[in-house]
Amino acid sequence: MAYLKHKRILLGITGGIAAYKSADLVRRLREQGADVRVVMTRSACEFITPLTMQALSGRPVHTELLDYSAEAAMGHIELARWCDVVLIAPASANFMARLTHGQADDLLSTLCLAASVPLLLAPAMNQQMWLNPATQDNARLLTSRGITLLGPADGSQACGDTGPGRMLEPGDLIGHLDHVFQTNTLTAKKLVITAGPTREDIDPVRFISNRSSGRMGYAVARAAVEAGAEVVLISGPTSLELPERVFCQQVVTARQMHDAVMNEIRDTDIFIAAAAVADYRCSTIADQKIKKTDAFINLTLEKNPDILGEVASLSPPPFTVGFAAETEALLENARKKLINKKLDMIAANLVGDNRGFESEDNELQIIWKDGNIKLDHAPKEKLARNLVAIIAKHIHEKNSAQTH
Ligand code: PMT
Repeated sequence: MAYLKHKRILLGITGGIAAYKSADLVRRLREQGADVRVVMTRSACEFITPLTMQALSGRPVHTELLDYSAEAAMGHIELARWCDVVLIAPASANFMARLTHGQADDLLSTLCLAASVPLLLAPAMNQQMWLNPATQDNARLLTSRGITLLGPADGSQACGDTGPGRMLEPGDLIGHLDHVFQTNTLTAKKLVITAGPTREDIDPVRFISNRSSGRMGYAVARAAVEAGAEVVLISGPTSLELPERVFCQQVVTARQMHDAVMNEIRDTDIFIAAAAVADYRCSTIADQKIKKTDAFINLTLEKNPDILGEVASLSPPPFTVGFAAETEALLENARKKLINKKLDMIAANLVGDNRGFESEDNELQIIWKDGNIKLDHAPKEKLARNLVAIIAKHIHEKNSAQTH
């Protein structure tokens, strides 16, 4: 399973004997590197204890709708925003019926209404209950709303019956989850992305840099791999683990980043500039550590190459996406950058006061020539997947407009 590493999976457990298999499911998901949070209904707790699930997931298990430890006591909203996917396994006939009717009378049903991520159900129940027209109608309705039903499998059941209603095995469920993250929207596309800060030396021990951690750019690189692209990541100094299945080049200065991008840009379909490139460098770098003898010292700075601007001016340019880091007038300033640099798209974020830089979450305004969309506050991985989906949609629209 290639795509589950670092994915945030919300596992909902409802009341049914198959709940014992969910323990193994959590263990296997963690082995894949996924981050798992478990939400249990009251009746699920009769079949397996929250303590077991807490020990296996390494996180507190959530059971109550009103959670006083959550920010604003709205655990369902926090959990819905946190996850990349919701899997309910086992999903009982009762839970399917409640979900069909949009009920929100416990934590799990409420967060299913609040989540805007893929929702997967692994039904598990007695075969007669599954075949009942009421359950079949519910299954059809849920599927028509975009909810994915995984199984149920056919076979012998805990109650002694034989027939459809067994929950799929944990290994099969993991295979389906992995599939959720393979979108293939950028298959056969080459994508070059910059990420992280650059450093401009002052002397052998000091440099000018900024607060970029590289998280946003690395998340976009991962999302692009999931979308099937061939990805080249050109990264300034970060402390992050390099993404898998990505060709990484590590650089330090803006000029090194510029050269690495220009070497790679031929045959590139998409260029994304998520790096916080130092706009200026020192005109001269002192050979020895500068001594603190004077009350004031002057540093003469000169402009670094504008990597994004240069790529967008190529003929023909790749589909070029910039980022705009602003402390004020976000939309206005970002739009100016979009137009002045002749970009196809720009992702604008507010920075400063613990926003944008360094943090695990962010909020983006995606702007293009005749439109924009706001991506609400969410983990950077989730924003990255949404951004990649928006880019893929624009490229496909552009391509089909050119062929007609
Ligand atoms: O790395 P994180 O901690 O996760 O933080 C993410 C982020 C805030 C760094 C990221 O979301 C972001 O906004 N990146 C762009 C930061 C930036 O330098 O913005 P800018 O508005 O100064 O630059 C505009 C664009 O020009 C950017 O796409 C930048 O990469 C590009 N640029 C800037 C200068 C330069 N010499 N060459 C460039 O290519």
